[in-house]
Amino acid sequence: MTRWNVYVTNEIPKPALDKLEEYCDIEVNRTGLVLERSVLLEKVKGRDAVLSLLTDPIDAEVMDAAKGVKIFANYAVGYNNIDIPSATERGIMVSNTPGVLTDTTAEMAWALLFSVARRVVESDKYSRMGKYTGWGPMLFLGQDVMNKTVGVIGAGRIGLSFAKRAKAFDMKVLYTDVAANPQFEQETGGQFVSLDTLLKESDFVSIHTPLLPETHHLLGEKEFKLMKNTAILINTSRGPVVDESALVKALQSGEIWGAGLDVYEFEPEFTEGLLELDNAIVCPHIASATIDTRTKMGMIAVSNIIAAMKGELPPTCLNP
Ligand code: DGY
Repeated sequence: MTRWNVYVTNEIPKPALDKLEEYCDIEVNRTGLVLERSVLLEKVKGRDAVLSLLTDPIDAEVMDAAKGVKIFANYAVGYNNIDIPSATERGIMVSNTPGVLTDTTAEMAWALLFSVARRVVESDKYSRMGKYTGWGPMLFLGQDVMNKTVGVIGAGRIGLSFAKRAKAFDMKVLYTDVAANPQFEQETGGQFVSLDTLLKESDFVSIHTPLLPETHHLLGEKEFKLMKNTAILINTSRGPVVDESALVKALQSGEIWGAGLDVYEFEPEFTEGLLELDNAIVCPHIASATIDTRTKMGMIAVSNIIAAMKGELPPTCLNP
């Protein structure tokens, strides 16, 4: 079998690169930086496959530059960075890395939820600044989590994993999606409601929907007005699901109480005002960032490339 020539757009865990190298000649972008578009357009030329990241916009122009590429193996479960219809039209396969990051991402949503509710980051900064002079009855009062209502937007794999964990805190689960999901209800006791009802009744709202034209700015000024003043928003899905300027205003005015964010509308830029807010936690898109999970994601992306090279259907091929 002829070895394939593969470009890897950023460094991924070594076991995955080692596996890929057993079968293919590889070049890896080891700068640690997201590729400039002009570099991406140049680097995809003459390859058989590209292992891409969610930070690489793979559109028709890139595909046309990538003559000879048979597969874009995306190192992410989300694939809003790839124009799948254009790939299919050109006979190019596209794959993602579903399943392995489900629980890891759900855990991060909980980590953010607790951190905002109990003001963990804010109070840590306070201690480090030498401001702690002794126990205070009014110091960093937060929100209880147990027995509260959590609203889950998007009842897919990650939403389900997140919601299952709410049981441990005796929480009521509300959820919304395009349709009711019996498996979700059975496993979480969750109740299917409209987005408006979820926003009005939830103490915590966690977003787990993919970014689609229909979910762009799903939450904006009107939606924040519906939420409780004590509510906390968690977003580990995709930034543009939220109108970030409206979110900053809602956090500044106290329309909502806090936000735990891992993703941003204009990533890696932050909307003006966001970084100045004490009631927001702003993590750099790390929800799937555990050693185990990132390694498994790499192994899946690599197995998709190897399958394509052998003339087999990549295990997590996305083309219809
Ligand atoms: C994904 O996979 O889509 C996450 O955003 C990064 O792991």
